[in-house]
Amino acid sequence: MEKLIIHGGKRLRGRIRVSGSKNAALPILLSAILVDGPVRYLNVPRLRDINTANRLLDILGCPAAFEAPASDASEYDPGGHTVRAEVQELKPEAPYDLVKTMRASVLVLGPLLARLGLAKVALPGGCAIGARPVELHLKALERMGAEFKLDSGYIIGRCKKLHGADISFDFPTVGGTENLLMAASLADGETILRNAAREPEVSDLAHFLNACGARISGIGSDTLYIEGVDKLSGCSYLIMPDRIEAGTFMAAAAITGGELELESCPSESLSKVIDKMEDMGARFKIAESDTDHSFVDGRPHSVTVSMDGPLKSSDISTAPYPGFPTDMQAQFMAMMSLARGSGTVEENIFENRFMHVPELNRMGADIRLSGSRAVVHGVKKLTGAPVMASDLRASASLVLAGLAAKGETHVQRIYHLDRGYERIENKLRAVGAEIVRARDDS
Ligand code: UD1
Repeated sequence: MEKLIIHGGKRLRGRIRVSGSKNAALPILLSAILVDGPVRYLNVPRLRDINTANRLLDILGCPAAFEAPASDASEYDPGGHTVRAEVQELKPEAPYDLVKTMRASVLVLGPLLARLGLAKVALPGGCAIGARPVELHLKALERMGAEFKLDSGYIIGRCKKLHGADISFDFPTVGGTENLLMAASLADGETILRNAAREPEVSDLAHFLNACGARISGIGSDTLYIEGVDKLSGCSYLIMPDRIEAGTFMAAAAITGGELELESCPSESLSKVIDKMEDMGARFKIAESDTDHSFVDGRPHSVTVSMDGPLKSSDISTAPYPGFPTDMQAQFMAMMSLARGSGTVEENIFENRFMHVPELNRMGADIRLSGSRAVVHGVKKLTGAPVMASDLRASASLVLAGLAAKGETHVQRIYHLDRGYERIENKLRAVGAEIVRARDDS
């Protein structure tokens, strides 16, 4: 196993390029199953979850792999971040040893049913945050003509040809909306998804499917209309930048009293995060970038975040997009730990998403938990300690706390972090952090 060792207390300064979005890339890669002919995905982050998705595609008969970087590769070389995938002979089974490491594997359910009329997908694992069931996916696919049974830990779905349906989600589930978008793209007739998730990653998937020939409208709203087509054809597609990675680096600038310029930063999708950070005293400058590698919504884009006074506390309450993202909750808690005053954090999306709290408290934070609510009393300093990462975003909050703490922090079990952050220690070291990856024999 590996850990990160951080000597805290350095103000971060410099420029970081935001990687492609993990949560957009996963469903977009998996939807290669729906497509006839080769697909090329640009700006795919090099992450453990992406390797898992590629392996899953291989097993399902749709070989997928990163293209080798060009010989003159630079940090921005898209070749090093391009995945090519093409269906050969599809098979219906997503095995447990892959699905258990990545819950997003359940996203092959819709595409397999649409292409084969048969899907056998192990019940998912993923981050240990809450029960995370998938009944909303299944209920919606049933409305399109699928039938499901559970057998030996597998969801087995069958259908003749999926047909369009008017579906209203009880909750705007991100994965459920994505599964249904993919299934409906090749179904007979029109599907309407109401109370659909509006996350930017859902929109990115819809844009990808349309680039392959799907007919989806209402993108970005809570009602999506999908006119099924007979086939989808391959294309090249640029994955959107990762708003959560960008938000995490914003928090790194704020918590260290530094200044970071984030290239290729999807600032529009971070408006709630930026508003809250401004409340806490950070300043933002949104500018055109001087490189051509930072296109967001078709134009060059960079965001500079700086912090020179003390952090002030705030209150946050997570909600589906466009609300405050649950994936930024843990990082905000690290910042609030060192802010002036007290603030509350309400977690409304996942149960059990406070596993970073005892670890932050071990570093000297004063956070009290009561159900889905935490009260954070700001303290003057955190002190370095050995801490254990328990899920992806919890790990990010411990790295942030370590960057600001006095002394040395060892963040153990960083395999969680590697699921969602591309070379985080290299990116942070390049802007002045003292952080190294080391073997962990403890
Ligand atoms: C996606 C993101 C994750 C993010 C989350 C919410 C990916 C790979 N992951 O996860 O990073 O934190 O959106 O923004 O994109 N639920 C049910 N039944 C269902 C489906 C969901 O009860 O059938 C519950 C879940 O247990 C959870 C909540 O709804 O408590 C949100 O789930 P969902 O929106 O589906 O998130 P994911 O797609 O799992």
